Amino acid sequence: MKDSIRHLIQQALTRLTDEGVLPAGLTPAIQVENTRDKTHGDFASNIAMMLAKPAGLKPRELAEKLIAALPVDASVSKVEIAGPGFLNFFQNSDALAQRLEAALADAQLGVRKSGTAQRVVVDLSSPNLAKEMHVGHLRSTIIGDAVGRVLEFLGDTVIRQNHVGDWGTQFGMLLAYLEENPAAAESELADLEQFYRAAKKRFDDSAEFADRARALVVKLQAGDAECLRLWQRFNDVSLSHCQAVYDRLGVKLSPADVRGESAYNADLPTIVAELQAKGLLSESEGAQCVFMDEYKNAEGNPLPVIVQKAGGGYLYATTDLAAMRYRSQVLKADRALYFVDQRQALHFQMAFEVARRAGFVHAGMDLEHMGFGTMNGADGRPFKTRDGGTVKLIDLLDEAEQRAYALVKGKNPELDESELRSIARAVGIGAVKYADLSKHRTSDYSFNFEQMLSFEGNTAPYLLYAYTRVASVFRKLGKGIEAIGGKIDLQAEQELALAAKLAQFAEVLNNVGDKGVPHLLCSYLYELAGLFSSFYENCPILGAEDVAVQQSRLRLAALTGRTLQQGLELLGLTTLERM
Ligand code: ARG
Repeated sequence: MKDSIRHLIQQALTRLTDEGVLPAGLTPAIQVENTRDKTHGDFASNIAMMLAKPAGLKPRELAEKLIAALPVDASVSKVEIAGPGFLNFFQNSDALAQRLEAALADAQLGVRKSGTAQRVVVDLSSPNLAKEMHVGHLRSTIIGDAVGRVLEFLGDTVIRQNHVGDWGTQFGMLLAYLEENPAAAESELADLEQFYRAAKKRFDDSAEFADRARALVVKLQAGDAECLRLWQRFNDVSLSHCQAVYDRLGVKLSPADVRGESAYNADLPTIVAELQAKGLLSESEGAQCVFMDEYKNAEGNPLPVIVQKAGGGYLYATTDLAAMRYRSQVLKADRALYFVDQRQALHFQMAFEVARRAGFVHAGMDLEHMGFGTMNGADGRPFKTRDGGTVKLIDLLDEAEQRAYALVKGKNPELDESELRSIARAVGIGAVKYADLSKHRTSDYSFNFEQMLSFEGNTAPYLLYAYTRVASVFRKLGKGIEAIGGKIDLQAEQELALAAKLAQFAEVLNNVGDKGVPHLLCSYLYELAGLFSSFYENCPILGAEDVAVQQSRLRLAALTGRTLQQGLELLGLTTLERM
């Protein structure tokens, strides 16, 4: 709808330009916003205020001329001038109802991408394999998953890349430990944390062990077969831990999406050689560096991207350059999105710039760091176990399910055990994911079980419950929407408000996809559930006064249910028919 209003305004502007009211050559960005108060119409534009000056008119005068020049359009019932010169557009309720009918008849719910479909690389999760996944990996995994799902729904081809850290110096230590005592190490591998700690202890306690560890990294990187075998063994175990977490979370990641740092090992010398050939490299204290004028440290000294250390070793940035080149040249991506901690912002800014200057990515490719803030404990301090250790993701998910189980059982003691379990899973895991997704990506957030499991407010339980209310209408009726005729007819104020919100679904998803911000979808669903609730209380559905009214309300309810379900699924939540 906003697009069509923009289009109407554009036509009016062209007409006024032809008539000489506006000077030629203006190309304003036409802004159209949703109004908060529906008595002022459904959409508003400030275009008359923006162009009053070049037109040499008062904003309200220009607004009048614009209204006169607007083409007649069936979807707009009237246009008014408000305040200093806003144009307020009132949506025609018949046209709105028709749009909703079209959405109801469409598997895509009327959602289309506003631009052309693209190939999009989503870099997500990407833990370091030396240790088990901990809470720090949660955000990248679930925010990346949600945005990937939305882009796919909009019609993009999404290529998930799990850029795991499987190639650092810490592997020498792990290999030395594996090699030293294969049998014991094998059984200890079941708990990677413990394995890592044991290896680290050996490393810290014994200089001889530490030397062996360093020698093993060199052997590994030189392609020694036995080292590679041990390394592979370790990674298999570690990756299977990760996959268990992904499955438990219901995240769309599989072993096929893993392309770790090691995959780029062979490309690293080429990256350095190409930078050299382009004249971008300089040597500083024996290291190969790219300096860019605009990057300086706090003291004002030039800040380099180091691509090769004095000893010949390569770095995190070198691997990222190789990955960008692969994503552009082999994966043919139009866009690559990096869901990585905000603290790596400078790394990505600089690496993106180097990749562009070196021509590692094609000119039209977008590189976007989708940074996120830190997840803290309920006290706002870094998230730790009681004894100060890092919290394993799998333990956190166990606790979420247990708490949800107690909660659901308390509310619904008569449910049988297996249903109780599956509800607890959907609610517990859903709550953890939703709490994260509903916050603005870039801010830090406090992890709080009580809050996320509350049935009030912008939470997973509230939304899952809202969906079951719609489902229960149809359960009581004993038939689905396909068996219901009639058409949507918007009369009551609550029907109109709900309908206007339903019509915004496509716009919200496009925004989420463009900016990588799932919290917009969360707020949207929360508002939608709230509007459904007032509709439900004020406009009897099954008790409606006549058949046509009942059919219309059932159709609105059905579209609300499908929108909630689709929206929650795009966030990676499982809906329940009852709870
Ligand atoms: N393994 C890295 C870490 O844990 C994150 C990798 C993110 N992706 C990338 N292409 N650099 O910090």
